Amino acid sequence: MATKVHVVFYSMYGHVHKMAEAVAKGARDVDGVQVKILQVPELVSEEVLEKSGAKAAREVFSGIPFAKPDDLADADAIIFGSPTRFGNMCAQMRNFLDQTGGLWMSGALVGKIGSVFTSTGTQHGGQETTITSFHTTLLHLGMIIVGVPYSESRLMNMEEITGGTPYGASTLAGGDGSRQPSGNELAIATFQGRHVAEIARKLNR
Ligand SMILES: Cc1cc2nc3c(=O)[nH]c(=O)nc-3n(C[C@H](O)[C@H](O)[C@H](O)COP(=O)(O)O)c2cc1C
Repeated sequence: MATKVHVVFYSMYGHVHKMAEAVAKGARDVDGVQVKILQVPELVSEEVLEKSGAKAAREVFSGIPFAKPDDLADADAIIFGSPTRFGNMCAQMRNFLDQTGGLWMSGALVGKIGSVFTSTGTQHGGQETTITSFHTTLLHLGMIIVGVPYSESRLMNMEEITGGTPYGASTLAGGDGSRQPSGNELAIATFQGRHVAEIARKLNR
């Protein structure tokens, strides 16, 4: 039986989307694993998206299907990606998760793997708080949390400014969003996808 890994993300300017693709690539490396990438619905008006430049950025991944809460029940592991908003997950992801009450009541996600990655504008803008506060919701849903162990030695990289935490992969967008995920950050994201998929595969045997 195939093990199913879903990568579920929201991205306003494309950084989390790039990380999601890297996470999915890692999960696809594992034999017997089926990977699906889904995005959560937008809440911001077209007018505001247009003004902020997000509309054009979001065109790049407009072909990725939107997740419905029940899609989560189909997966063995779900890897969530959200940009930081004031050190927490974004409202779009919060809104999506707030529609999982039925899954919570029925225990549909109990024993599935949950893992999180993120993007912040600034170096100390809340990568860890975004990921670990996200974990609280996943624990309420009964999920088993998986992060990025230090066997991924890129977490130790001190040669450059880089994201990447033991709680989950991360990138830095820069104050104006011009910085793109680095090779180091994308490699950590790929590691996270592979690591989650390997554990899900073992649990699914
Ligand atoms: C309302 C709002 C709040 C934000 N809060 C933070 C923050 O607390 N710390 C930070 O470093 N960046 C913050 N940012 C920057 C975003 O995290 C950044 O735009 C995002 O990581 C880029 O990812 P994306 O391209 O996938 O949307 C904020 C952005 C917005 C619009």
